[in-house]
Amino acid sequence: MQLEAKLEGIRQDVDRALLGLMHKAKSPAPRIHAAVDYALQAGGKRIRPALAILAGELGKVSHELLLDCSLCLEILHTYSLIHDDLPCMDGADLRRGRPTLHRIYDEAMATLAGDAMLTLAWESLIEAGCRHGVEYQALLRSILDISKAVGMGGMIGGQVLDLEGEKKSLSLEELRELHAHKTGCLFVASLVLGGRLAGLCPEKIAALTEYGKAFGLVFQITDDLLDLEASTVQLGKTSGRDEHLGKSTYVTILGVDEARRLAREEAQKAKQALSIFDEQVSKYLQELVESLLERKF
Ligand code: IPE
Ligand code: IPE
Ligand code: MG
Ligand code: MG
Ligand code: MG
Repeated sequence: MQLEAKLEGIRQDVDRALLGLMHKAKSPAPRIHAAVDYALQAGGKRIRPALAILAGELGKVSHELLLDCSLCLEILHTYSLIHDDLPCMDGADLRRGRPTLHRIYDEAMATLAGDAMLTLAWESLIEAGCRHGVEYQALLRSILDISKAVGMGGMIGGQVLDLEGEKKSLSLEELRELHAHKTGCLFVASLVLGGRLAGLCPEKIAALTEYGKAFGLVFQITDDLLDLEASTVQLGKTSGRDEHLGKSTYVTILGVDEARRLAREEAQKAKQALSIFDEQVSKYLQELVESLLERKF
């Protein structure tokens, strides 16, 4: 199967599974249920669960287990976007081609929807892990890894560096550190989740970690490039926000050509990290990082 068809299949599976999850989720307040549902049904590339699933396929584990356990990654990511879009942060009006949650509801509801999703993520992972008979030790280890990745030592730390960096010119090293936390940690945790669920050995988990770090950098460099070069319609989010908010990006520090060169170099590093795996088995992960260089949204 071609990469694009594979990813489309995963996207549809994730969409369907999230729909099922929300169908089961109950609240005495219909408004919060509707707000979370609005955010989760808006689509998106679903790249974090895709990474977990592709990593899991490097070992032996059922697709249903991987899918159900990886939903938490998309829920965490979507919560982070809802809060990132709030007026107190990036102040964005458009996300995934639709008005942002706080524009449809209000800031209180968007804040609470994010909070609800931060707990829904753990609920869904624990419930899926127990249902599929994942060993408790592996499940706890995964919860710990992901908690660290999205907490103040990971994604939240990166978001704070991002906000503090506004209207300052950061050095390349500072920007790398910022992005490694803001974006990279959750990519790494996604790959490691899949690898752990598939029972991969520590060397293979370490290889996925290396791949994830480089993948995250390529992803963020292209996010910065797209913010400058792509249209709002293409992106489903308002383009040009980074410049408007005075953010340092790979483009402001390095310029377009050098940023592209760095992205190519990191993609190469990511592919090299996979050399521990049989080439045929890891082909989707290799193609995926390569495809980031050409992504249009
Ligand atoms: C956007 O993430 C925020 C960044 C971390 C750069 P994605 O580009 O994965 O957004 P969706 O999920 O496809 O909307
Ligand atoms: C958001 O980064 C990253 C997190 C929410 C953790 P950005 O602010 O660059 O994402 P976009 O460009 O709004 O999607
Ligand atoms: Mg931001
Ligand atoms: Mg933003
Ligand atoms: Mg961005």
